[in-house]
Amino acid sequence: MTNRIPNDLSLEELDRRTVLHPSTHLKQHADGTAGSPRIIDHGDRIHITDTAGRRSLDAFAGLYCTNVGYNRQEITAAISAQADKLAFYHAYAGHSHEPAIRLSERIIRMAPQGMSRVYYGSSGSDANETHAKLVWYYNNILGRPEKKKIIARQRGYHGSSVTSGSMTGLPLFHNAFDLPIAQIKHTTTPHYYREHQPGETEEQFSQRCAEELEQLILAEGPETVAAFIAEPVLGTGGIVPPPAGYWAAIQPVLKKYDVLLIADEVVTGFGRIGSDFGSDHYGIEPDLMTVAKGLTSGYLPLSGAIVGERVWQVLEQGAEQMGPIGHGYTYSAHPLCAAAGNANLDILENENLTANARDVGAYFQERLHAVFASHPLVGEARGVGLLGALEFMADGEQRIPFDPGLKVGARVAGACGERGLIARAMPHGDILGFAPPLVVTREDIDTIVDVTRQAVDAVTDELVREGALKAA
Ligand SMILES: Cc1ncc(COP(=O)(O)O)c(C=O)c1O
Repeated sequence: MTNRIPNDLSLEELDRRTVLHPSTHLKQHADGTAGSPRIIDHGDRIHITDTAGRRSLDAFAGLYCTNVGYNRQEITAAISAQADKLAFYHAYAGHSHEPAIRLSERIIRMAPQGMSRVYYGSSGSDANETHAKLVWYYNNILGRPEKKKIIARQRGYHGSSVTSGSMTGLPLFHNAFDLPIAQIKHTTTPHYYREHQPGETEEQFSQRCAEELEQLILAEGPETVAAFIAEPVLGTGGIVPPPAGYWAAIQPVLKKYDVLLIADEVVTGFGRIGSDFGSDHYGIEPDLMTVAKGLTSGYLPLSGAIVGERVWQVLEQGAEQMGPIGHGYTYSAHPLCAAAGNANLDILENENLTANARDVGAYFQERLHAVFASHPLVGEARGVGLLGALEFMADGEQRIPFDPGLKVGARVAGACGERGLIARAMPHGDILGFAPPLVVTREDIDTIVDVTRQAVDAVTDELVREGALKAA
């Protein structure tokens, strides 16, 4: 039997008829009320161009991915050379190849103190899934079968598989999917602007976050809590740098109750905030680390579940009891992806892109604050390095959000899009996010900020006309 699809459909119509898109309103996409799908044709440095010939400055690097920019021939050449030599072999039962070995060596050299081994996957979601399994295995080997719960944070983002989607603390990713699963719990979002109480300083708020974590551990029973997973900088939940003193307050609580720390560096890894990893920037000492996106700049899918020495020792012990580890993905350490990773990290290193992210990132933060901190539509302008966000509020001082039906964040992102700029309407709240490729210059930042200003002003005028915002 064959499924009938007319032969004369346009690419747009074929897309609507055949592709199930992630994070998309499926019905509106399928019936065309969401507009035409945007079909991207090619990319060049920090721009992408669609099949209609519209070029956009991509200030979100795909999805925080293309850190070295689009169309880097060094990477495509490395992939091609590796494909000519060995396009695939698996890594089961101790098989290996040079690209994966070289990549692992450089990741471990770069990574924070104590990191020891890399298990490769194809996505951030599957790497976090691996971590959950390793944490459970670890406690079984240690004879602590009760110690299995993993605490994540409300508004954290860790992926959308069953376990990583449960770790994610956004209702959109749980509703009607029967998530989160029972082993995953959530604690306070460390977002000072939104969550602080009157008169509470950032440090006091951080202390309260640590106390609330401790209360949750005690309520669940410390003997049942295995790990805490967090992004150094909250990403998809709204691009929120931690408040002052946050990591210094959180880590002793984890140590006190023997809770492993999983640093999810999928966004912050490989230079995005001006340090190799977010853990370096904030003094985080992880037991396990997740990387993806910036590892290959998205040229091919590759993630890493990095295991620290403390957990590794127990995994070795496990092998003595259990034999070979019962975990494996066919594409783990795929040679083409590893070759892409090596070529990508060569560019990161040779072009000093981490230092560029630090330098141009500081300029970006300065401009965001100067232009938007007291804009009538903006409650908070925030970020670190080349991660930035604007949070729109009906009343910024009183922290009164807009009616979600007004879709203010999406409207500003749309207004940016009309002006040739891609910034992302974050999925929770009215937040516009920025994560430009690490190759951006100060001039590019000026363009990003100027165009965003025009878009924010245009939506402000609309909202004033609609009576949803007081005239300034
Ligand atoms: C911090 C973080 N962890 C995990 C993931 C999931 O990665 P993937 O979409 O590759 O499964 C993401 C994706 O945005 C992320 O930002």
